[in-house]
Amino acid sequence: MSKKIESHLTEDRVFKPSKEFSKKARISSMAQYKRMYQESIDKPGTFWAREAKELGWQKKWTKALEWKAPYAKWFVGGKINVCESCVDRHVREGRGNKAAIIWEGEPGENVTLTYRQLQREVCKFANVLLARGIKSKDRVLIYMPMVPEAAIAMLACARIGAVHSVVFGGFSAESISDRLEDCKAKAVITTDGGYRRGSIVPLKANVDEALKRYKDVETVIVHQRTGDKVTMKKGRDVYWHEEAAQVSAIHEPKGFDSEHPLFILYTSGSTGKPKGILHTSGGYLTGAYTTCKYIFDMQEDDVYWCTADVGWITGHSYIVYGPLANGVTQVMYEGAPNFPDFGRFWDIVEKYSVSIFYTAPTAIRAFIKAGDEFPDSRDLSSLRLLGTVGEPINPEAWMWYHEKIGGGRCPIVDTWWQTETGAIMISPLPGCTPTKPGTATLPFFGVDAAILDETGQECRADEGGKLVIRKPWPSMLRTIYGDKKRYRDTYWNDYDGMYTAGDGARTDKKGNFWIVGRLDDVLNVSGHRLGTAEVESALVSHKVVAEAAVVGRPHEIKGQGVVAFVTLKGNAKSSDALAKELRNHVGTVIGAIAKPDEIFFTPALPKTRSGKIMRRLLKELVETGSVSGNTTTLEDHEVIAALQKQVSGK
Ligand code: PRX
Repeated sequence: MSKKIESHLTEDRVFKPSKEFSKKARISSMAQYKRMYQESIDKPGTFWAREAKELGWQKKWTKALEWKAPYAKWFVGGKINVCESCVDRHVREGRGNKAAIIWEGEPGENVTLTYRQLQREVCKFANVLLARGIKSKDRVLIYMPMVPEAAIAMLACARIGAVHSVVFGGFSAESISDRLEDCKAKAVITTDGGYRRGSIVPLKANVDEALKRYKDVETVIVHQRTGDKVTMKKGRDVYWHEEAAQVSAIHEPKGFDSEHPLFILYTSGSTGKPKGILHTSGGYLTGAYTTCKYIFDMQEDDVYWCTADVGWITGHSYIVYGPLANGVTQVMYEGAPNFPDFGRFWDIVEKYSVSIFYTAPTAIRAFIKAGDEFPDSRDLSSLRLLGTVGEPINPEAWMWYHEKIGGGRCPIVDTWWQTETGAIMISPLPGCTPTKPGTATLPFFGVDAAILDETGQECRADEGGKLVIRKPWPSMLRTIYGDKKRYRDTYWNDYDGMYTAGDGARTDKKGNFWIVGRLDDVLNVSGHRLGTAEVESALVSHKVVAEAAVVGRPHEIKGQGVVAFVTLKGNAKSSDALAKELRNHVGTVIGAIAKPDEIFFTPALPKTRSGKIMRRLLKELVETGSVSGNTTTLEDHEVIAALQKQVSGK
């Protein structure tokens, strides 16, 4: 195996859930987990049918699974309306007056929507979409901040069978137009702006910019969040509240085929442009629902809070579809964790008595750095369960989370999954799994995870290899939108009939999975995937840049930071001002998240004799300050010697 996927972390601390927690949990013993896991692997049809049945189908399926690798169909012949299952079903079952979303804006205002109110808003907005000519299977791009209307827009699309594609509000105009072009969206839903760290992000202006390049959008619906003046193009742009005032609050949800497309969400790969990951209806909802139910142990009186943004998969599965399918009460927060200071999250936990809290290691590290006085001065006793997602959590951060936030009493679920998997795949079950800081522990029901070596043999305990999933699961991606070949090549090419996640991992002697990180040229910045190729092509699109190579460097808070090596064209001169300009350029092309932390200008990049950039050497250089690895294939040794001086001299 390559050196890259060795993992040397040893961790002996084991934390078992308290008897009190286990007693009330949905899964309360390892024996129960093992029994259910075995059934889910031996008889997936039986297992998943029992879970799916709880979602309220309009027509029952005839076959639970049809699998012709790499294409799966779940609940074949069944009809479901995902929005009805997440909203109307709860009103019918007596939760109409229960809070569905308790929203807090960054400036401090709050709004509570009960399930009945949510139903009303969703129905109205579904009627608005229909009135604007949006039909089943039309693509709708959503570019919004964390406001309830973002969830309402997603649910309304699902309700009428339109396919939403949410673009994270931190992405740039160019990222929007790239995605519009790829999915050929007919409509865009946005807001005038959104609050972030006290200032206003001009979302509508970014949409206007994107629509200069992509011209086939017929309708732009603008929710007024800030009240700032925005440009409205006659005939194309309309205000949400004005349209909603003209339509009925009643809308009958029609059942759609279980495999009806629900959404496209773009994610970074190692080469080329972002991939439009396509998820469908019945299987996806079953995955999101079941994982919330067992992993977050959602109970009727919980107050759940996931701090992700709806622009990422975590927001889709664990803010919108999963929690709402469970009929839980959840908190949604618009702004930054450190606004006005690092006490904001803990104020929210205290104020709304949050009982289940789900966040990312990068946020935990930022809190550790900010100081213990912030959590110490708040009452966090309502918490009973904590979760993390997005990247491996360092044991120190795990311990801090456990002690400072969880008061030593809350189980932590470290959840491994991906945009592609749709739902959590590897995670402790909080009422039974013994946890260790740094491992996502064991596969969830129906997940046949394994670590394989290059020859396809299963690795022994403590031996690093590639993480694969050997059987289809309900919430798996169905394809890359418009690119079946890329779908096969990216995920199904390594081993026959198995899904390759692109992560390196190992299992320990107890079968716990330890995720080491990505094996491809993908960075994990603050828990978000970023293709090095994307950042490189953003740099090269600047008029003075001839060539660029991008690598990741360990970063205390972000996990990984972006470092760029840039070669300039002809007589262009390097300077600090140019480095700043290039950073901003990347921000404009992709979004602030992709801005390099550091840029090194170099007359040449290290290449092989055949002209391939040797990123491996650059990575070693930024990580260790020197290059000791194999350089025999390097064409010009001077290049690396010069870079070494430059990097260590900085
Ligand atoms: O490398 C893994 C890492 O994040 C990748 C998936 O990124 P994305 O599709 O953006 O989805 C993030 C939210 C699900 C994975 O391939 N990752 C995610 N969760 C964990 C993780 N690495 C280690 N431990 C985790 N719990």
